[in-house]
Amino acid sequence: MAKLAWYETEIARNMMSRMGGRAIRGVLLNYFSSKGIYTGKLGLIQVTNFLQAALNSEERRALIIVDDYTQRFVKKVTDYLESINMEYHVWSGVLPEVPMNTIEEGAKICEEFKPKVIFGIGGGSVMDTVKTVLIKYEKPEQDLLTILPYFSSLGLRNKVKYWIAIPTTSGTGSEVAQAAVITDTRRDPPKKIIVVNDELLADIVILDTDFVKDMPPFLTMATGLDALAHAIGAFVSNWSSPYVDALNKMAIKEIVKFLPRTYKYGANDLEAHNHMQMAALMAALGAQGNITSGIDHALGHSFGKIFDVHHGLSVGTFLPYSIGFQRNVTDRWKKLCPIFGIEKENKNRDELFKEFILALKNFIQSIDGPTCIKEIKNPIIKKGEYFEKLDLLVDYAFNDAVTLASTRQLNIDLYKKIFTYAWDGKNIDF
Ligand SMILES: [Fe+2]
Repeated sequence: MAKLAWYETEIARNMMSRMGGRAIRGVLLNYFSSKGIYTGKLGLIQVTNFLQAALNSEERRALIIVDDYTQRFVKKVTDYLESINMEYHVWSGVLPEVPMNTIEEGAKICEEFKPKVIFGIGGGSVMDTVKTVLIKYEKPEQDLLTILPYFSSLGLRNKVKYWIAIPTTSGTGSEVAQAAVITDTRRDPPKKIIVVNDELLADIVILDTDFVKDMPPFLTMATGLDALAHAIGAFVSNWSSPYVDALNKMAIKEIVKFLPRTYKYGANDLEAHNHMQMAALMAALGAQGNITSGIDHALGHSFGKIFDVHHGLSVGTFLPYSIGFQRNVTDRWKKLCPIFGIEKENKNRDELFKEFILALKNFIQSIDGPTCIKEIKNPIIKKGEYFEKLDLLVDYAFNDAVTLASTRQLNIDLYKKIFTYAWDGKNIDF
């Protein structure tokens, strides 16, 4: 039997379900973190100046981690590194879904090059690769599956002094999240695993529109939906707190206003891109960076892995069902109605909720996003194949770490129903 991650065990499931509840969490544990965040065109210059002052000449060794697509951005960074005589090595071996062997490969490169700084330029896969490479380089004996989110101290930063994240999408928020999603390739079939620890947080984040403005429209839409799912899922969650509520609410407002603009105008609307960068970052700080995402992420992780669908597109598609499921135990979605232009007066709860879900679906469709599985175009999923894999979909979602933080208790049958309703867009009514 494959070795399980800590959160897949019965004891963790029981313990975590008792940690929910806004009242008790405020007393028990309400962790908040954010590191140095530089926004704007001067960010790279400021960070270069900082590295020049902070590192002596022997320490000026940077490993730049990118993937196939984000290699194009390397020169934007190396021009600055050369200006302070910083030696650098570029590794472009990051793969989507972060299979475990690429983490080992990255750690080996670190062992040979001995960087004091690691830059990660990319989306979620690059960020997650850097985080786990950091662990494997600094603590090769550490088992990734047994790292606890709040109680494991790893003792990183003995070898690498600064990990600097430059996101090339506006959505994953991985640059300010202490979580890394990787694929446990030792299991058959391979399974997505989440590693969570505060020491994985980037020390410095640079948000510069030069790195996101040329995203193709599909990526703008899919990563934007990821940010929206982070913010709404976390806002509706029982795990939220007053300060993450503020971040999430503002993130939702900004996404509703600026995502349609970045989708439509691309590189011609830098103002909208700048707002989307900050909105995605706020959503990430408000969700996976400091509490947790909604169960749209458990549903989307499972679905995305099995059918090879983009993460943001997957979680965005499941968002109306995730919120619909939580509706039985919370009214928090009501606070979001004004953002979608919905008047609350003289409407009963059911009418209001229907209107809210319709507005959410209309928004997703306004940027050509899918609101149910059969609407997904890349790739097209056949109905027979979807329902053939229903048990596996449910199994992966049920055993996903995000499930533990659901405001409403979940079980196999409920997940089965949610996946079934999401096929053709039926509103959750149970
Ligand atoms: Fe996400």
